Amino acid sequence: MARGAAAARRGAAQRRLNRAGAGPRCPPGPRAGPPPAARPPPGPARASISTATVETVERPTKGAYTLAGVGRAYQQKGRTVHALSKVDLEIRSGDMVAVQGPTGGGKSTLLQLLGALDRPSTGTIALGGELLSQLGDARLGAIRGREIGFVFQHFNLIPTLTALENVETALVPLGVSAEERRSRASEALESVGLGERGGHLPSELSGGQQQRVAIARAIVKRPAVLLADEPTGNLDEETRDEIMNLLEGLWRDQGLTLVIVTHDSAVARRAQRRLHIKQGSVREVA
Ligand SMILES: Nc1ncnc2c1ncn2[C@@H]1O[C@H](COP(=O)(O)OP(=O)(O)OP(=O)(O)O)[C@@H](O)[C@H]1O
Ligand SMILES: [Mg+2]
Repeated sequence: MARGAAAARRGAAQRRLNRAGAGPRCPPGPRAGPPPAARPPPGPARASISTATVETVERPTKGAYTLAGVGRAYQQKGRTVHALSKVDLEIRSGDMVAVQGPTGGGKSTLLQLLGALDRPSTGTIALGGELLSQLGDARLGAIRGREIGFVFQHFNLIPTLTALENVETALVPLGVSAEERRSRASEALESVGLGERGGHLPSELSGGQQQRVAIARAIVKRPAVLLADEPTGNLDEETRDEIMNLLEGLWRDQGLTLVIVTHDSAVARRAQRRLHIKQGSVREVA
């Protein structure tokens, strides 16, 4: 490509990136600040000691959910569809939970509520001690942007942005400088094994690689929670296992609360805890 055309493309990409980051449907953004407590605590310097203290106090409940009497009903052509009813559920910070159940049972509805993308019709949901069900849109958006990463079955990458730019979009709403966005996005791509693919468009990547980019975008903000809705649903078995190894490694290293909706029992068996949702009711699988 001629140099002028390349520069024009970069300018256009930057404008798209800014728009993508500012829009309401952009992937949730990252949390500036210290790394999660699951990493080794900082050394003996005074500032580091105080950071470690804050993390120790803060982190244990940061990714913890409490759902009490949660219901979600949709109005559909004059009919009421009860997607979830009377759900009482505790998820501890750092849990890895698999959610299974028949199609239409309410799994995605639950994930949307956990992700602060939706509000319950009845009952309450608290994340890190804060009642999501009572928050205004701005505060809910801020929590989603900082604390919650999403991964979807169809990757949901922006086709006109490169892998690196896609990851950067998660940092735009957090007001991170362009330079820091780029370096953190590169780091996140490295951490999912795609350091060499930052300049590729999604169409120039395999399905497994696109899902890795989506995972990098979800974790670049260092969230407390990672929610994945059938993250391996479009992948072959070998790639599924690679993606699960990656998610499990991130969960362990970063102290994430990880909730995975899946139809695949091989995926669900890897979780510490398994839930089954049918006709809007949640039960624990022993
Ligand atoms: N926006 C909506 N408007 C009306 N009904 C909805 C809406 N979203 C979901 N539903 C209904 O709520 C129920 C639960 O849907 P949900 O998407 O949570 O199921 P699911 O368990 O994720 O299914 P699948 O395994 O097929 O993805 C279904 O009956 C569905 O038709
Ligand atoms: Mg679903």
